[in-house]
Amino acid sequence: MASQLGGQQILILPEKVQRYLGRDAQRMNIMAARVIAQAVRTTLGPRGMDKMLVDSLGDVTITNDGVTILEEMDVEHPAAKMMVEISKVQEDEVGDGTTTAVVLAGELLKMAEELLEQDIHATVIASGYRKAAEKANEILDKIATGVSRGEDKILKEIAITAMSGKGSEVRGEKLAELCVKAVKRIVEEFDGKLEADIDNIKVEKKSGGGSADSQLIEGLVLDKEVVHPGMPKRVEKAKIAILNMALEIKETETSAKINITDPEQLRNFLEEERHMLQEMVDQVKKAGANVVLCQKGIDDLVQHYLAKVGIMAVRRVKESDLEKLARASGGKIVTNIKDFTAKDLGFAAQVEERKIAGEEMIFIEGCKDPKAVSLIVRGGTEHVVDEAERAVHDAVSVVSVAIEDGKIVAGGGAPEIEAAKGLREYAGTVSGREALAINAFADAIEVIPRTLAENAGLDPIDILVQLRADHEKKGGKDIGIDVISGEVTNTLKLGIVEPLRIKTQAIKSASEVTEMILRIDDVIAAGKLEKGAMGPGAGPGMGMGGMPPM
Ligand SMILES: Nc1ncnc2c1ncn2[C@@H]1O[C@H](COP(=O)(O)OP(=O)(O)OP(=O)(O)O)[C@@H](O)[C@H]1O
Ligand SMILES: [Mg+2]
Repeated sequence: MASQLGGQQILILPEKVQRYLGRDAQRMNIMAARVIAQAVRTTLGPRGMDKMLVDSLGDVTITNDGVTILEEMDVEHPAAKMMVEISKVQEDEVGDGTTTAVVLAGELLKMAEELLEQDIHATVIASGYRKAAEKANEILDKIATGVSRGEDKILKEIAITAMSGKGSEVRGEKLAELCVKAVKRIVEEFDGKLEADIDNIKVEKKSGGGSADSQLIEGLVLDKEVVHPGMPKRVEKAKIAILNMALEIKETETSAKINITDPEQLRNFLEEERHMLQEMVDQVKKAGANVVLCQKGIDDLVQHYLAKVGIMAVRRVKESDLEKLARASGGKIVTNIKDFTAKDLGFAAQVEERKIAGEEMIFIEGCKDPKAVSLIVRGGTEHVVDEAERAVHDAVSVVSVAIEDGKIVAGGGAPEIEAAKGLREYAGTVSGREALAINAFADAIEVIPRTLAENAGLDPIDILVQLRADHEKKGGKDIGIDVISGEVTNTLKLGIVEPLRIKTQAIKSASEVTEMILRIDDVIAAGKLEKGAMGPGAGPGMGMGGMPPM
């Protein structure tokens, strides 16, 4: 970038810096962001397709989950990255609806592009969109139906709706029931407000069997085994030592050489080592522990001593599991064995090693704090069980959100049609060009029912026309498409239901990111941008095919 002053050129930015201005910048950013939306669009809804993602190591992920697809896709373009960000925010805030949020943002940008072509200024579009988003959320709040934590049937329907978006193998009444039960166990009440922290639900996956073999455990499950065959496989009234350290002798950090000249010296040396290990075991015994869960390794000799005194031990337990365990059992994580006393012990009614699908797992049940629960998710193969785990994550998220907020809406595009209808009415009351943006927002939000229909092989135009007509009728607010039967019907009655917050959060984050992208009229890049929206890992056919030359 350079400027002229009296015939003399002044360099302001280094030469290799790329700069896009005005419409070019907008066009490029919108295009890159829309490519991302296009990529996940076909996965929306129960009839959506899956994506197969292969990472640089050749590991394969097959999924329908918006946020997982985008995270794996190795996106490079900054505007495209903003879209990935929406899916992450959606995931963090509500745990489901990530595809919806991204598809909506893509459509809002498409509509904005059309308005820009008609010479409507970006700031006008942005402020119109903001008003529209607020209004849409107001409308949705009004049409929402109440739900309480006791309404198991509806909660189960919410779980099933969330899971039905995932692989067809993981649909299951049983799994949905377990998800509802799990969430109900962890709900707490603070100042009259319900809170369900799904971090208290530990999901452990195991391939083999079907999703109907999944189990809910009141306590924690570790995918580990007892270290020594001589140890008990089951301990009742467990007093648990939770150790974030190794029960072995560390190698010295500096390398030193010891010359041993006679056998007596060697014996002393080994004896000293044995003594140190014995002391560790004595310390554990003295504190009164009968179960040891250790984050690092356990020396063979220590294993032997522990087995001799009937203490059960498990090694290489994940740190996050130790934290959960400490919380659930009321124990403390110990980092130095010398400081370990009875005060640090955690308690559980029983710790037991049991076989699941031919492999050992450790069950810690009847903890001091009964809020800790684990879900063992089962599924035929590794890929199926991975997708099942994602489905369960979505299901527990939506159930907890529904319990926290107590508000649900019908699925299958019903709330989007209702919002679009309300927005068109609202646009009539707004003067000036912003009204055009509000109308564009109304058209954009209909992308959800349109895409659901498309992905199910139905005619989106016929469906939209019918949906709009039905929503004009009295009591039509919950009419959506059931993509399984292909019918336009009251989806709320049919049990296709979602928490309100999925929809409001999706609208909020999609419109925020759209506004942000629209307001950019200058892109100054130190590196190259024209490579495309996605990095080299994205594979063929995913680049910014239609991007105009700049
Ligand atoms: N039987 C059904 N008929 C019609 N639509 C349905 C049905 N079940 C679920 N849906 C709709 O499918 C959409 C959700 O699809 P999906 O789960 O694939 O995407 P998402 O929730 O936006 O993203 P993700 O689950 O990947 O985070 C919602 O709009 C929901 O109402
Ligand atoms: Mg979903």
